[in-house]
Amino acid sequence: MLEQPPLGLYIHIPWCIRKCPYCDFNSHQANGAIQERDYITKLFDDFLYEYERLGDQTRELQSIFIGGGTPSLFSGESYKFLIQNIRQHISFSENIEITIEANPGAVDSEQFRSYIEAGINRLSIGAQSFNNKHLEKLGRIHSKEDTITAINIAKSVGFKNLNVDLMHGLPGQSVESAIEDLKIAVDNAPTHISWYQLTIEPNTYFYSYPPNLPEDIILHTIYERGIEVLESNGYSQYEVSAFAQKSKNSSHNCNYWNFGDYIGIGAGAHGKLTMPIDNKLVRSKKLKQPNNYMNKVQSEVTQLNEILIEERTVEFLMNALRLRRGFSRHLFEKRTGIEFGEISKKLTTLIENELIQIKNINGESFYSATRTGYRFLDTLLGEFL
Ligand SMILES: C[S@@+](CC[C@H](N)C(=O)[O-])C[C@H]1O[C@@H](n2cnc3c(N)ncnc32)[C@H](O)[C@@H]1O
Ligand code: SF4
Repeated sequence: MLEQPPLGLYIHIPWCIRKCPYCDFNSHQANGAIQERDYITKLFDDFLYEYERLGDQTRELQSIFIGGGTPSLFSGESYKFLIQNIRQHISFSENIEITIEANPGAVDSEQFRSYIEAGINRLSIGAQSFNNKHLEKLGRIHSKEDTITAINIAKSVGFKNLNVDLMHGLPGQSVESAIEDLKIAVDNAPTHISWYQLTIEPNTYFYSYPPNLPEDIILHTIYERGIEVLESNGYSQYEVSAFAQKSKNSSHNCNYWNFGDYIGIGAGAHGKLTMPIDNKLVRSKKLKQPNNYMNKVQSEVTQLNEILIEERTVEFLMNALRLRRGFSRHLFEKRTGIEFGEISKKLTTLIENELIQIKNINGESFYSATRTGYRFLDTLLGEFL
């Protein structure tokens, strides 16, 4: 039986100072002045539209994530206005996590202070690397020094929850250089590190002009040694790319991986809502082009798609198996509305093949990918198609 999961809110800001050659996110180079005020107004309209769709208006928000693009192009006043207005309609949980992504090339201390005043309590800094040569090849608009300054400013204005985004497997990167990046990150003591392997995505500059990426054996060594460095410095891996100090897991991202609900507002934003009474899971997608998003009426901005019963298992596992902890039988049933018996045979075979393991956590059985399963997650998921 479907049950109502925790609810998050994702807010997308679709502009950047310059488009990075590897990035396929919905981000557009800001040519000229950004219509910040109009966009914030539209975001609020969009929120009201989604709020109506919620059905159950007693639900509370457990997290907000302001991502992009480069959300740090907008002022704290704008976010304060938006957050206050949203709060007039929907309750915030007592420990709500409110994150904003910041690019170290577009920040200052007044701005970080204004984010705290807006109620934002978690900052995610896009470091990508601490090596200036690699940063240049990645087309970043900042240096290693800018990133360290941004981290120090964030701490000095009072951010107690700080994430640093890093990428590895960069063009021409050696194992030593990737490990050096992690050591510098760890020395700067953020509470959370997201460590992504660079992927070459269609519709990017790197796709048209592929750089020389490290060989598979180097990528594998970077990943294995990197995990050791992070774990030995107090950052536990709880997801393929997410590492956190104790009790500092990102609750917004954990909600995605536990197949929770989220409202998505802003150009190109995605959402997912569970409607237990109708036995429905519904995804929403907003128009991607910022001008279209801003100028069309709400009903034309949003596209809705049901997640059909036959799609739910794979969609659930695609998320839940990313978590080191995996998932319980109970979670599977309440998030998908499907009986566990439907997947138990396949799970048994995968356990025999040492791709899935069962662990007892607080008296409950959790199914998670083994080390090998984790490496071949796509193959593993293919078993459920
Ligand atoms: C949506 S981006 C927004 C962050 C912010 N705009 C910035 O770049 O500073 C979130 C993160 O995804 C990661 N990312 C983006 N493109 C990637 C790719 N092709 N491969 C791996 N990670 C990527 C980067 O670490 C980036 O910080
Ligand atoms: S700054 Fe971030 S969102 Fe913008 S293009 Fe670069 S990686 Fe993408």
